[in-house]
Amino acid sequence: MELADAISRRQSVRRFTPQPVPDTIITQLLEAAALAPSAHGRQPWRFVVIAPGAGRHTLVAAMDAEWSVQLAADGTTVEQIDARRAASATRINDAPALIMPCLDTTLLDVYPDAARQQAEYTMAVQSIGCAIQNILLRAVDLGYDAGWMCAPVFCGATVQRACDLPATIVPQALIPIGVMAAPPKRRPKRSGADLRIDR
Ligand SMILES: Cc1cc2nc3c(=O)[nH]c(=O)nc-3n(C[C@H](O)[C@H](O)[C@H](O)COP(=O)(O)O)c2cc1C
Repeated sequence: MELADAISRRQSVRRFTPQPVPDTIITQLLEAAALAPSAHGRQPWRFVVIAPGAGRHTLVAAMDAEWSVQLAADGTTVEQIDARRAASATRINDAPALIMPCLDTTLLDVYPDAARQQAEYTMAVQSIGCAIQNILLRAVDLGYDAGWMCAPVFCGATVQRACDLPATIVPQALIPIGVMAAPPKRRPKRSGADLRIDR
């Protein structure tokens, strides 16, 4: 597939058919991630491939418990909380394949001041965004679709415990992958010309 086609066909898919994703596809997605640019060329990422089944259910239950507390603190009604929890759990549990991109913070440079340390962290997050986009585009190229869930960012320590990860491996997203069952609702995109600022 032409790159321009993959870019324009990619969309955040939230419902997949049950068709499994072969492990050879996951391997190719991670090879695409590995080729992404990264600050200092440091490749500060690891990708947790979360198989369907018990481990995934444990992760969902752990995130769900923390999210419920957060939503209740926001003043969300019990009915809304239950609906959002159920939808999120279904998306994660039913995803034919699930990749969790993580930052490996042992690979970040260490600075003596907080401002530069924050800049280093920002660059690492920018880098992993590039790696994730490579996964999303390669998935389309290989005939699959993918989505993006930010939930782990909001409960990193809980996810680390549920997945038995060290504190240095910081979860950044969940990427469900499969074959699209229903097209997502999407906001219209602004044109490139619309985004341009000339000086
Ligand atoms: C950092 C980031 C976090 C996102 N988190 C979520 C999420 O938690 N749930 C979700 O359904 N989509 C999530 N998305 C996908 C966006 O909703 C989606 O990219 C946006 O609506 C534009 O749609 P498109 O990807 O189909 O072009 C996220 C995307 C990014 C880049």
